[in-house]
Amino acid sequence: MRDLSVEDIYSILDDARLFNSSFKDWQLPMQKALVANLFFEASTRTHFSFESAQHQLGCQVADFAAGASSVTKGETLYDTVKTFESIGYDMVVIRHSQDEYFKELENINIPILNAGDGAGNHPTQCLLDLLTMQNEFGTLEGLNVVICGDILHSRVAASDKEALEKLGSTVRFAGPKEWERPGYPTIDFDEAIEWADVVMMLRIQKERGSGMAGMTDSEYLEKYGLTKERYARMKDKAIVMHPAPVNRGVEIDTDLVEAEKSRIFEQMHNGMLVRKAVIKRGFGFAPFKEEK
Ligand code: CP
Repeated sequence: MRDLSVEDIYSILDDARLFNSSFKDWQLPMQKALVANLFFEASTRTHFSFESAQHQLGCQVADFAAGASSVTKGETLYDTVKTFESIGYDMVVIRHSQDEYFKELENINIPILNAGDGAGNHPTQCLLDLLTMQNEFGTLEGLNVVICGDILHSRVAASDKEALEKLGSTVRFAGPKEWERPGYPTIDFDEAIEWADVVMMLRIQKERGSGMAGMTDSEYLEKYGLTKERYARMKDKAIVMHPAPVNRGVEIDTDLVEAEKSRIFEQMHNGMLVRKAVIKRGFGFAPFKEEK
């Protein structure tokens, strides 16, 4: 998200929206693009929305299971990706636990789409979040966004901060003190609830050693979660977002996951659309609006 200009971001969002309307059946005008999805970390939404997008675009898709690959014999990430390039793959999608893993892949000559790097970046999650907000409010300028929870370990918080600030929204962060991140402006969550247009709850990243900041699940929900009492204090037109997977009853009351203000499942639908747009762009095709 750091490298994309404001214009780039809007053109990806426009393409994603057009994939949902005028260009539903658009396919890559190239024969049998070969793409491989290299997920070194668990994923449901990102992995399968990329795969669904690739199939709809007419790609041939290879799935890769790190545990059944030569990674188990000590092969490096670079050599793994270089192997896919040498075999003839045209694009790879990578999720990896290492922050900024892509820096060691600079000599790879096929497009690499980042499906999440450690606690670093999650650009396609960010784009689907932006699309969801833009569809809701018609603009990304002037929105008040609170992101609450495990900020320290969250690549979603990092990418969303980067993009939303660039696009003119105000972003504030709430949650336990031990999960604050330098340079991320904080706000008291109870104050933010009445201020925010978007209340974004984050999953506690136990796989990155977060623990529970010394609380039980119910203590966490009471202190930092979206309870029914907090939900009732949100602005009339405010929405609830969460990148998911959700820990029901921890960061959000289970009854609120599909409540009227929740856009959590809409975010997932939008994920498939932005991934189509990003694959199209990755292969070098112009935005629909610029096509001659
Ligand atoms: N939001 C997200 O990245 O979900 P997955 O880990 O299931 O892909």
